[in-house]
Amino acid sequence: MDPKNIRSQIPSLQGDSPIYLDNACVTLRPQSVIDAVTRYYEQEPSCGGRSAHRWGMAVTRTEHAARDGIARLVGAQGPDEVVFTRNATHSINAVAHGTKWEKGDVVVITDKEHNSNSIPWRMQDGVDVRVSRTDEDGRFDLEDFEAICADAGDSLRMAAIGHTRNLDGTSTPAKECAKIAHDHGAQILLDAAQSVPHQVVDMQEIEADFLVFSIHKMMGPSGMGALVASEEAFNGLRSIAAGGQTVSRSTIDDFVFKPGRGHLEGGLGHYAGYYGTAAAVDFLNDLSMEKIHEHEVKINRIISEGVRDLDGTSIIGPDNPSERGGITSILLEGRDPHQIAIMLDEGFGIYARSGLHCVDPWFHANDALNGSLRFSAYAYNTIEEAKQTVDAMDELFTAIPRT
Ligand SMILES: Cc1ncc(COP(=O)(O)O)c(C=O)c1O
Repeated sequence: MDPKNIRSQIPSLQGDSPIYLDNACVTLRPQSVIDAVTRYYEQEPSCGGRSAHRWGMAVTRTEHAARDGIARLVGAQGPDEVVFTRNATHSINAVAHGTKWEKGDVVVITDKEHNSNSIPWRMQDGVDVRVSRTDEDGRFDLEDFEAICADAGDSLRMAAIGHTRNLDGTSTPAKECAKIAHDHGAQILLDAAQSVPHQVVDMQEIEADFLVFSIHKMMGPSGMGALVASEEAFNGLRSIAAGGQTVSRSTIDDFVFKPGRGHLEGGLGHYAGYYGTAAAVDFLNDLSMEKIHEHEVKINRIISEGVRDLDGTSIIGPDNPSERGGITSILLEGRDPHQIAIMLDEGFGIYARSGLHCVDPWFHANDALNGSLRFSAYAYNTIEEAKQTVDAMDELFTAIPRT
């Protein structure tokens, strides 16, 4: 793992660049991804999957390469198991709105879900959304999850669980959850927006039915996400984007949907996004997902150990950084996380995130509506940056007294 080498390939990190620790929101992009997006617009700006001219065929090939690369990255069986979407939110909506629910069906989520993995399920008429609570140390509580699933019994239709949480970086024992859901005849959707970019994820090993993530959180272009599932699982969904490209036959009175992923990707694709996705997957393949994870934990350890004893701070989640990936999310007593985030930027060029991170229910339940200050690392952050962040926090906390 050589963060300096990775940095050298990222234009936004050249020269007088910030210490970018907002990677859970969006990651930075290497030149190869930017070049690939530009190549589409400059050299082959046409329609894929339908036009037989040379530009069209080039787009079709790149789209296939992107799909194939994503499938391999997450251990899916092939490119037809990948539906491209706008982002993880769109992917979850495709499943939540696409499932044919029956009154009384139960969906189990947790108390630390991103709104994107909560609201779409709550919107479904007749669906009973139940919440599995994390334990007192902030870890996923498998026993609680199992009990809630058992209580739902045959009514359980879906476990929709964050694989790794953007709130605090904690992870879920996904394979065990999948087994429990399947034992009740239900499906499992893993919100992998914070796992696929940061660690090895093997869908077949986990036996997840649906895996969703955002490609802009893994060095890919904005507005690209993925929904990965088997052809059978795709066949069970009603399309929320029916229209062009989704039917194998249509007359004025009738139509027949394409099977599998075919009926779910309506309309013209984000071709530039596919180009950037193929390049992002190539970039990640040259790194090692195990090493990315290890490196992020190292950064997290330095920041966690450096801020843990600052006056009025408490880190959300378990104490040990190795259980929180690259995310250090800090509650501040007597200081405003937004003010600290602004001062970190203005005084030190450190980009952190403050607020509720779209996990509002957790902050409501914990009476912490000021939100948290969150540092989230990626492969290109350096040990030196982590130390500078600790020094900056120390200086700010000395300069700003608690109210
Ligand atoms: C765990 C998790 N799920 C879902 C999302 C939604 O991702 P997007 O906004 O790219 O759809 C995020 C974004 O931060 C996230 O961290």
